[in-house]
Amino acid sequence: MLFPFIFFIFMVMKISRTRALSTKPLPPGPWKIGKVTSGRLENIINDHKAKKAETKLADEANDLVDVLLKLQDQENREFPLTIDNIKAVILDMFIAGSDTSFTTSEWAISETLRNPRVMKKAQAEVRLVFSEKVHVDEADLGELNYLKLVIKETLRLHPPVPLLIPRESREQCEINGYQIPIKSKLIVNAWAIGRDPNYWTEADRFNPERFSDSTVDYKGANLEFIPFGAGRRMCPGISFGIANVEILLANLLFYFDWKLPHGMKQEELDMAESFGAVARRKNDLGLIPTLSHPLPVA
Ligand code: HEM
Repeated sequence: MLFPFIFFIFMVMKISRTRALSTKPLPPGPWKIGKVTSGRLENIINDHKAKKAETKLADEANDLVDVLLKLQDQENREFPLTIDNIKAVILDMFIAGSDTSFTTSEWAISETLRNPRVMKKAQAEVRLVFSEKVHVDEADLGELNYLKLVIKETLRLHPPVPLLIPRESREQCEINGYQIPIKSKLIVNAWAIGRDPNYWTEADRFNPERFSDSTVDYKGANLEFIPFGAGRRMCPGISFGIANVEILLANLLFYFDWKLPHGMKQEELDMAESFGAVARRKNDLGLIPTLSHPLPVA
């Protein structure tokens, strides 16, 4: 995994990611992290270039790197796309996409462990949908309606990015009688909004069913539920992120039964959150899996 904190190091040091990933010499300091990552990304880009040249598939794009290289080749672009820009985009995708999906999955498993009723219902659904299949695949994820509710409820209580990307006001305005000066910084606390008792009944209770007859969704239209943010800068990876979480959870629930170690009771499971840009579990989640369905043969 790449370094989730790298983006914040760049922010704190007031240096752009493009600059930090540059192959040009950087002052001594935390840029070493950027240089190692930069070298790795450069290798990936070079591999893609070599493959493209070898197969002469000039017009075929197999993945994100191919698409970006193709864009770079386009003539008459208003803004040139440099190799450093491409590296920054790839890094953004890794940083924004990996820790968030993983963290959501870990909280979902933690919450279902603490709520055996939910675990039983989610497992029953996954096992019914995939009982006749060779393995759990993406094609039938759409049928996992209860699992989707579990993921929504997990994102309400544990948005992996608790504080959204900071905003700045472009003009002076008035809100509720308060004069807001131009260039005011705004930090939105999505975590607190998701637990606000003015909007949620039994706000601290993990209850996926609260979404079953509700139109409230995380697509940015319901401002009481914004785990992916809202507005122009909201997360562009929602579908991919949700699919990542769904496929992982479906596999974990289909193949395994889960138990807490050392005879620990469900209410004793520690749910403390770490402090940081991504709110992961503070302490690792140690569980005992028991195989309930034979694993697919590769
Ligand atoms: C469960 C998974 C995910 C969650 C909860 C999540 C959440 C967020 C949040 C809260 C933001 C800030 C939005 C705002 O301030 O309004 C964000 C931004 C972003 N996300 Fe995600 N994300 C997830 C998965 C992904 C994935 C899989 C990708 C891409 C592969 C991705 C790419 C991005 C990018 C590029 C931004 C920055 C957008 C910008 O600055 O305009 N995210 N995400």
